[in-house]
Amino acid sequence: IFAAVEMAPRDPILGLNEAYNADTRSNKVNLGVGVYYNDNGKIPLLAAVKAAEEARLKNAPPRGYQPIEGLGAYNTAVQNLLFGAGNALAEAGRLVTAEALGGTGALKIGADFLKRLSPEATVYISDPSWENHRALFESAGFKVENYPYYDAATRGVNFAGMKAALLSYAPGSIIVLHACCHNPTGADLSDAQWAEVVEACRERGLVPFLDMAYQGFAEGIDADAVAVRAFAASGLQFFISSSFSKSFSLYGERVGALTIITSGKEESGRVLSQLKRVIRTNYSNPPIHGGAIVAAVLSDAGLRAQWEEELAGMRDRIRAMRTGLVEKLKARNVAQDFSFVVGQRGMFSYTGLTAAQVDKLKDEYGIYAVSTGRICLAALNNQNIDYVADAIAKVV
Ligand code: LMR
Repeated sequence: IFAAVEMAPRDPILGLNEAYNADTRSNKVNLGVGVYYNDNGKIPLLAAVKAAEEARLKNAPPRGYQPIEGLGAYNTAVQNLLFGAGNALAEAGRLVTAEALGGTGALKIGADFLKRLSPEATVYISDPSWENHRALFESAGFKVENYPYYDAATRGVNFAGMKAALLSYAPGSIIVLHACCHNPTGADLSDAQWAEVVEACRERGLVPFLDMAYQGFAEGIDADAVAVRAFAASGLQFFISSSFSKSFSLYGERVGALTIITSGKEESGRVLSQLKRVIRTNYSNPPIHGGAIVAAVLSDAGLRAQWEEELAGMRDRIRAMRTGLVEKLKARNVAQDFSFVVGQRGMFSYTGLTAAQVDKLKDEYGIYAVSTGRICLAALNNQNIDYVADAIAKVV
């Protein structure tokens, strides 16, 4: 049965990890995958996470099955991060949240559920978008198209193009939006532009699906929820995928959630019942550990404050690496102006490096980046930043 199986290409992002791991050069640098490393080049175990884990292990809890939709305390904590504690949507019974296997898992159960509701709908993703968006919605059976987003000339958002496109789509079309820290470009919409996007979605009867993988990496928990809260205030129904891979440094635990905003309590009951069928037939119910840790941190005032401080520390270090890289490139007399890197938000910089330059970085310097020119600033540190700046200066 495998005779006709063709070799699939490597994943554009995780495939880089495979190549990086196989590289024997000691000075190699992985700027490919979106992972935060500390200044020692290590993935941190956050102190708030460690404290919650130690307390959990001390209690030696049993490992029974979770409810299909996951831990109730976790799902409530997710809603509070998105909408603020005591929010009107929860009060009105308009929120359905299910724990999911990372942000990807949340997108996937959302996509599978949507496919049952609107099998003919087209999914629109930003141009460019996270590579897995297209693959994931296509594998759920949808036709996937791009809406205009990034303007390479201004290194910002082509908002007029984006809005005109939204206003041209058929009602019921699914629009995937990056709630903050756009991946890969780092170019976000302003608050006023988000208000216009909400209105466009309302006017055309579109189905917004907000991907929230980096809450806290731009400005802070509440500031980064501007888009989510603008949609929440609109009365529309929409979807949100959340990920705690980055913000809790829990990548391999696969901690995420899907939240669906319905029009009311009775509808929520029906939606949850169907979403549970999607989950049950995919993986039955989510694993316990990661969600329990996030719930423990978020429901304890002391641990939550500690976590927010650690998150701010990650955010500030990434900013320092942005400034550092720009200064170091300038100091190396690179003619090209890289000052835009400082203003981009989140983990990534869309550098404008060409695929050929990215290849050269890999082949000649052991520096891995996504072929689109996306680099992960959170993998730079005071030990490797000069080496990376030297290499970029040489390849450009
Ligand atoms: C990324 O964009 O590098 C991250 O979101 C990791 C992933 O799953 O692709």
